[in-house]
Amino acid sequence: MHNERPSLGAPSLERPAGLDTNLDVSGMVDPDKGLVDRRIFSDEQIYRQEMRRIFARSWLFIAHESQFTKPGDFFQTYMGEDPVIAVMNKQKEIRVLLNSCRHRGARVCRADHGRTKNFTCTYHGWAYNLDGELISVPGEHYYNDEFDKAKWGLSAVPRVESYKGLIFANWDADAEPLEDSLGDMRWYIDAFMDRDPEGTYVVEGVTKWVLDGNWKLAAEQFATDWYHVTMSHASALMILSPSGKGPKKEIAERTGRQFTDEHGHGAGFPVHPKNRFDAQPVHEYYDYEFLKERLSEEQVTGPLTNGHATVFPNFSYLPVNGSIRVWHPKGPNKMEVWAWTVLDRSMPEDVAKAQRLYNLRTFGPSGVFEQDDGENWSECQANAGAFMVANTALNYQMGLDRVESREGYPGMTSELYSDAAGRGLYRRWRELMNTPAWHEEA
Ligand code: FES
Ligand SMILES: [Fe+2]
Repeated sequence: MHNERPSLGAPSLERPAGLDTNLDVSGMVDPDKGLVDRRIFSDEQIYRQEMRRIFARSWLFIAHESQFTKPGDFFQTYMGEDPVIAVMNKQKEIRVLLNSCRHRGARVCRADHGRTKNFTCTYHGWAYNLDGELISVPGEHYYNDEFDKAKWGLSAVPRVESYKGLIFANWDADAEPLEDSLGDMRWYIDAFMDRDPEGTYVVEGVTKWVLDGNWKLAAEQFATDWYHVTMSHASALMILSPSGKGPKKEIAERTGRQFTDEHGHGAGFPVHPKNRFDAQPVHEYYDYEFLKERLSEEQVTGPLTNGHATVFPNFSYLPVNGSIRVWHPKGPNKMEVWAWTVLDRSMPEDVAKAQRLYNLRTFGPSGVFEQDDGENWSECQANAGAFMVANTALNYQMGLDRVESREGYPGMTSELYSDAAGRGLYRRWRELMNTPAWHEEA
């Protein structure tokens, strides 16, 4: 459904030119040579441009469909830095509304999630219905006759679409459909989100934590980086290995594929006939032969279990433990991680519990793997803005020239150990950063 383009600013107001100056970032990333200018991780001006040219026009993950069952169910999240409310309206459609009162700008919803009949601003009491229309203004008679409530509804995100239970929204009314923008990435997502004919749901509640680190560090790692696993997660692998000695050679020397594409998405995974779920009850629950028929041999021996993925720009997931997460940008040096646990609807309770606990143990905020990753990103960020550091290019050259079309794997893939999807992510980043967005048109 194509809705109206949201208006920026207010009726009859005009902004001075130069308030939002865009930089040409062509020279800051060179995907062909595998080079990235470190200032893209720390520069405030670049960060502001990302908000305008990446987050204001990309499909951004909002929530899982199972979070909404009845009209009035709402969930508060962010699109870039903008607070939004996702809410099921009376027609049972999901609407995504800017959570900012049109009167003086207070948030009209301060609860994380819940069920409501309308959103009433606690500052002066303007009230909006589930479609964001302004329905009540205390003391309306103090305004003159020209005041028209119909013009002062909450800004609504014009495009809201879902794929396999995952709801995304886009401020660009003319954006290509979500499914087209996911493209070949759908096959990799299916290996995670389409194992169960009954679909998926998320465990209630979102785990949230703040990290010192630019959002791209996390998005990029989940798109492209299996390389860090044996080094960064050595102690975690040791704890989890049956002998207690790991990580074994088979882990370090695994082969696999890494998907990269022009939309900036990425996914990497070992390929092995014995790939399995790590939590034993989950492993025993799945019928891998059934899954091969439902999906494909390549999905089951690849992205079904182990691996990592990012949907550009800031939605990532891990199939083995059912973790889905958003890296909310909070300034160039900070991100807020929001993580959910996805479960198959057909899973018996004990299996679901095992998967939920496994996810918390490994990739919850104090999870044995998550802590390693967060520590790395904060370490990379720690001095990113220092003069000499910021002027020293970073290396993304692993697997240069090793990207090909390989039978069985949609799109272009590289080897498991490669920076291909990282280069793809920054290629897309550069393209969007250098292209005016819908809101810049006259
Ligand atoms: S700021 Fe919301 S009613 Fe005044
Ligand atoms: Fe990791």
